[in-house]
Amino acid sequence: MAESNSTIQFLLNNEIHTIDFDMDKSISATTTVLNYVRQKAYLKGVKEGCAEGDCGACTLVIAELSQQNTLQYKTITSCIVFLPYLNGKQLFTVEYLSENINGQTVLHPVQEALVKTNGSQCGYCTPGFVMSLFNLYKNSQNPNREEVEQALSGNLCRCTGYQSILDAAYLFKDLPKEDKFSLMKEKHTQILQHFAQQNTVFFVQREDEIYFQPRTLQQALEYKKKYPESLLIGGASDIALLKTKKHQSLPHLLDLSQIKEIQNIVKTDDFWEIGAGVSIEQLRLTFQEKFPSFKKMLDVFGSQQIRNMATLGGNLGSASPIGDTLPVLMAHQAELLIETEGSIRTEKLEDYLLGYRKTSLMPDEIITKIRLPFEDGQIIWSEKISKRRDLDISTVSAGFALKQTRDGKVQRIILAFGGMAAITNRAYQTEKFLLGKPWTRKIVEDAMEVMAEEFTPISDARAEAEGRNILAKNLLLKFYLFSKV
Ligand SMILES: Cc1cc2nc3c(=O)[nH]c(=O)nc-3n(C[C@H](O)[C@H](O)[C@H](O)COP(=O)(O)OP(=O)(O)OC[C@H]3O[C@@H](n4cnc5c(N)ncnc54)[C@H](O)[C@@H]3O)c2cc1C
Ligand code: FES
Ligand code: FES
Repeated sequence: MAESNSTIQFLLNNEIHTIDFDMDKSISATTTVLNYVRQKAYLKGVKEGCAEGDCGACTLVIAELSQQNTLQYKTITSCIVFLPYLNGKQLFTVEYLSENINGQTVLHPVQEALVKTNGSQCGYCTPGFVMSLFNLYKNSQNPNREEVEQALSGNLCRCTGYQSILDAAYLFKDLPKEDKFSLMKEKHTQILQHFAQQNTVFFVQREDEIYFQPRTLQQALEYKKKYPESLLIGGASDIALLKTKKHQSLPHLLDLSQIKEIQNIVKTDDFWEIGAGVSIEQLRLTFQEKFPSFKKMLDVFGSQQIRNMATLGGNLGSASPIGDTLPVLMAHQAELLIETEGSIRTEKLEDYLLGYRKTSLMPDEIITKIRLPFEDGQIIWSEKISKRRDLDISTVSAGFALKQTRDGKVQRIILAFGGMAAITNRAYQTEKFLLGKPWTRKIVEDAMEVMAEEFTPISDARAEAEGRNILAKNLLLKFYLFSKV
């Protein structure tokens, strides 16, 4: 193992901040950023609402180095982020946005905008909105409606109403293009570069908790081989809830969030290759033009804060039957690259999923990449049905692919569903029925009857089994109509 130490370092606003977990036993590596900021750093502007990533009251902004060595800003819901995630990054809190000039508080332009449009009543959610707006301002100075809605999709306000908050964002085009952070960008970049050059890895061992955060894939694979019982963390957006909501102990964690080798999206002659550590938001932005069907699904994946942290590897690792990327990955005939120290195997997504949250992953293995092979002339489509558009769990989701012969017959079809069985699954009988037949409405309606017999979904709080079957059938019809446009 590389040389390790028990400290993490990051910029807390403008100051280099070091936490030594061997020295301070009042916190642990699974203390959340929210709890640390409020209780140890005494920065109480950030609020706790739900403590499960759903309300945005705890939104903070982090900056990290992009591949081009520039600062990249993103929001996080700090209630479900463990402290080591901050290692080497910069964390902004709401206290640091305004300035004190000659004894006068001067608000940041986005705060001014929110005041101007009366974007706050009780104010509890306001620090979270301010941070989301600040992040939007740093990323886009003349945001369009979609960007504004996405930026605010993870923030709930129960009293102001959203229009005045949206209006604040529409004022951005008239705001100064530079803020106080622009002047300090160079200094902060240099500090983060200095952090990135450190060779040591973070490791802390307590009686009840071991936490390892390697910097390279090799270090991670060696560790996993030695300690197969260690639980992998990508962005921890699933794992953190085990601690914060279920109060489970997490005795041994292997955190992959610092491994750059698995954070790239690469296009080769034959396929797209996506690192398992690529965030859902990075994927959404990369695929927005290339794969509109993929992007459409990712648009409604959690909220921007969640997508900034959540990784593709984590979505596959969770193997939830309602994991949103799985149906659309199946439609793309995705293959997983699964590694253990000294060996690598490739597996089709369908073969990887074995049962309810059961996969073929062995205890010493890590998913490192996901490949999407190129296939010309196919139509790919996706849909997520949920009770709410943003920040909701799928009731039923679909990822479909169709390739037709020149004379309009079904040459290849994939009908993958989430929410219809214990795993994301294809409607194999329906696919078989359609194969070789003309792609017409009549045939599709017959196929819908085949599909009605194919799944035995469960009833739960989101839908009755019968409702799920109706949804699945209608999704097929909707796909047909889409394919004819
Ligand atoms: C508020 C909220 C909203 C959400 N909304 C959605 C949604 O709309 N759609 C959706 O699908 N999910 C949603 N999720 C669930 C979660 O964000 C996703 O499953 C996410 O992709 C998990 O990624 P992660 O990197 O955070 O995983 P983690 O929490 O770090 O890990 C999840 C699991 O994957 C394993 N794992 C992580 N990386 C790897 C790897 N490289 N190889 C093998 N196993 C690995 C872990 O051991 C763990 O078992 C939501 C979660 C929250 C809190
Ligand atoms: S407190 Fe609600 S998202 Fe964190
Ligand atoms: S201002 Fe009251 S909840 Fe948002």
